[in-house]
Order: sequence, then C-alpha cells, then structure tokens
Amino acid sequence: MRAPRRKPARRKRLCGRGPPSAASIGTPIAWPWDRRLPIALRHPAAWEQSAGLVARRTEWPAMAKLAQRAEAGGTQVMVSSTAAPAAAPLGVALVGTGLAAAMHTAALRLVPGAEIRGVVGTSAGKAEACAQRLSLPRAYRDLDECLADPQVRVVHICTPPHTHPDLAQRIAAAGRNILIDKPLARTVAEADRIIAACARSGVMLCGLFQHRNIPLCRSVKTAVDQGRLGRIYLADCFVKWWRTDEYYRDSSWRARRATEGGGALINQAIHSIDLLQWLAGPVVEVAGYTTTAAHAIETEDVGVAVLRLAGGAVGVLEGTTAAYPGFPERIEIHGTAGSVVVDEGRRRVEWYLRGQEPRIEQEGVQQGNAADPAAVSPEAHAAAFADFLDSVRTGRPPTVDGHAARKALEVVEAVYRSSAQGGRPVYLPLSP
Ligand SMILES: NC(=O)c1ccc[n+]([C@@H]2O[C@H](COP(=O)([O-])OP(=O)(O)OC[C@H]3O[C@@H](n4cnc5c(N)ncnc54)[C@H](O)[C@@H]3O)[C@@H](O)[C@H]2O)c1
Repeated sequence: MRAPRRKPARRKRLCGRGPPSAASIGTPIAWPWDRRLPIALRHPAAWEQSAGLVARRTEWPAMAKLAQRAEAGGTQVMVSSTAAPAAAPLGVALVGTGLAAAMHTAALRLVPGAEIRGVVGTSAGKAEACAQRLSLPRAYRDLDECLADPQVRVVHICTPPHTHPDLAQRIAAAGRNILIDKPLARTVAEADRIIAACARSGVMLCGLFQHRNIPLCRSVKTAVDQGRLGRIYLADCFVKWWRTDEYYRDSSWRARRATEGGGALINQAIHSIDLLQWLAGPVVEVAGYTTTAAHAIETEDVGVAVLRLAGGAVGVLEGTTAAYPGFPERIEIHGTAGSVVVDEGRRRVEWYLRGQEPRIEQEGVQQGNAADPAAVSPEAHAAAFADFLDSVRTGRPPTVDGHAARKALEVVEAVYRSSAQGGRPVYLPLSP
C-alpha cells in the first residue's frame, strides 16, 4: 500500500505584509525574531528602520544560526544588506557640506563596516563647521588632503551637479571609489566623461538612486520581471511637488542651467523617472515640453513628456515643483494581467491583478519629499551605501553603476532637447 503523501510544509511569513521575496535587498542576513526587535516582525516600516539597530549590534553569528533554524522549519527569513556581517571597516569621506552631506552621514551611520573619515568643503572653515555640526571625526583642508588619507577608500560626492565631473575625475585619478548623489552630472556627455574616468582608473562608480532600495519598489520590480502584470502597455509617473521661492532664492546653484543643468525634472522628478525606466523601460522615444510657471527661476518648474518604451508600451511623465501644496509622487503601471500603483510618497503599493483580490501594501507612514526637501528617511540611502561598500569589498559591480545611473539623466535630457525643438520626438540612445 502506498504511504499517504505528506502535505508540504507551509512557508510561514515573519511579517504578514512585508516584502514577498526572501532576499529582497541583497546580502542575506536573518532578522532575529526574538523579543529584542518585536516590532520588526510585525511592521514593514519598522523592518527597514530596524536595519540600523540590527547592524549596530554585533549579533551576526547568532542571527545566522537563528536564520538557519527558521528556514529549516519553513519560516521565511527577511534579509537586509544594511545588516551585513561586520567586515573590516571601509573609510568613506564626504565632499560637500550641505543637505545631502547630512543625509549621507545619517545613513552611513546605519551601515555596518562604514567608517566616516571626514568631510571636504569649499573651504577649510566650511568643512570644520560641518564636521562639528554632524559630529564627524575630521575636516579636511581640501580634496587633496582627503585623497592623501590612506584610510579613505570611498568618496561620496554630495555637491551641486556642475562640480561632479571635475571632482570625480580627481578622485578617480587618486584611485578611490566614488558614489555620486543624483544626478550623475548635468548632461549625458558629462556623465560619460565620469564613467570613462572611473573605468580608466579601475575604480568603482555608483550613482545614488535610493528609491530603488525601498522594499516595496523592489517587490514591484520582481513582479514586473516575473511577468505578473502580463505585457505592460502603459507606464506613467507623476511628481507634483511644491518648492517655495526661498528654496530657490537661498541656493547658489539650484534651477540654474550652468550649475544644475535643469530644474524640476533633473532635481526632483529624476528619482521617479529612474524608477519608471527601471521598472518598465528602457525608454526609447520622448516628446516633451517644459515651462517655468510659478517661480522666478531660469529653468523649468514644470516638465511633461510622452514616452515610448522598448517593449512597445507608452507612458507619460509629469514633474513639477509648482504644484502647491505638494502631492505624493506616484508611478502607475498597467499590463494585460493587471495594474500596480506605486505611491512612492506614501510608501504604499496598490496591486490590482486580474483574478485576485485587490491588495494594498504599506510600509508605514512616510512624510515624503512633496513639500519638504529635507524629509528623507535614511534607510533607503543606507541600503544603497551598503550595496556599494559590498561591491568595493567583493569586486562585483554596484547595483546602480554609472551606466545604470546615466539612464534617468538621458530621459531628462531627451525631454529638454525635445522641448527646445517645440516638442519634436527625440530618440534614445541620445546622440551627442
Ligand atoms: N538623493 C537625494 O535624495 C538627494 C537629496 C538632496 C540632494 N541631493 C543631491 O545632492 C547634491 C547636493 O545637494 P544639497 O542639497 O546637499 O546642496 P546644498 O546646497 O545643501 O549643499 C551643497 C554643498 O556642496 C558644497 N560644495 C560646492 N562645490 C564644492 C566643491 N567643489 N567642493 C566641496 N564642496 C563643494 C557647498 O559648499 C555646499 O555645502 C545635488 O546633486 C543634489 O541633487 C540628493
């Protein structure tokens, strides 16, 4: 007589509404589901926020054991590269003393094995003031002094876009790995020079598009790649934000062609443009318009475009800093098997798959950037930095290397070129 077939063990989820894949962020590590971090088990937002807490405890061996036991028992283990096991610290220096430098500092402090060595400013005094304000160990007199520090292995460029090419070329020539906060540069031609300089010197280059590290966005990417939305035919992104007159007036570089290369598209909407092209792209054709509607600035505070994507889909993009009072940004993707709405601004994803109940995943309340430039929580930055440090350690390419970071810039530049030609279509890849 045949033995009755055993029912396969059901995989339990640690966190009911958490990311669906077990290895959704990179280097595996187990979440300890003991009582020390109970909130991490229940709440997806805390899942991200707790990464730093886990990381700062040196509990890797214990967590690894727990993970093995859990997986053997059929329990899904969540992972986070921000909580990778501690390796020898890697020295990181920051160039820039403004808002981005503060964000990078907060995030680097969540990354195990990242050692902030110091900061470079436009003057020794500015660097000193920044080092004090952010409690950094050292203020370098200038970039040369920073690059003479043998402990510095990675340099984060947190300065306005017009400075990126020169800084990157100097840092690459000194053999240091480079992370550049978005945009890679003002133009694709400049980005190409940066990529070539890094290749020549054999150093790693990473562009910062931290929204790709938001777990919900990664689960949408997985769903799209697995074909769960069917054939995609429509993909849109909407970034209707608000920035005050003072925001522009108080800055020496924002919304100026010479220093930023553009306005609302290259600065604010570029994160969502990057997500859109990553999720549903690449973009092959762009027809767009830009206008300056509500601010006394040189570049656009409104940009719109119709897109054609490689797979035959079409889409629209809207990016503005003139939409008072500022609305959460959104990406909408429609395919033959259903739709997904990525409400990035509220860290929420709505799934409408044919034959299934609609489902909403929420990572917790997030104030978002819609009206406040400084309202950026550090976890997604931290995951991007951990990914890059892991590439520097292991030699594998970073998830968002120079070529990947260039793509959103290429779409933005295509909108600018199209608008300058009265909305005529521009085809990608762009010719010089
Ligand atoms: N990823 C994100 O979410 C995010 C958020 C904010 C800013 N950014 C990006 O970060 C970059 C900087 O933006 P920010 O908001 O910090 O600007 P900011 O004006 O607040 O600060 C820029 C800093 O760079 C310094 N600086 C300028 N030229 C320099 C040089 N050659 N060497 C050293 N320091 C120099 C300035 O003195 C200033 O302290 C921009 O590319 C911006 O788009 C990204």
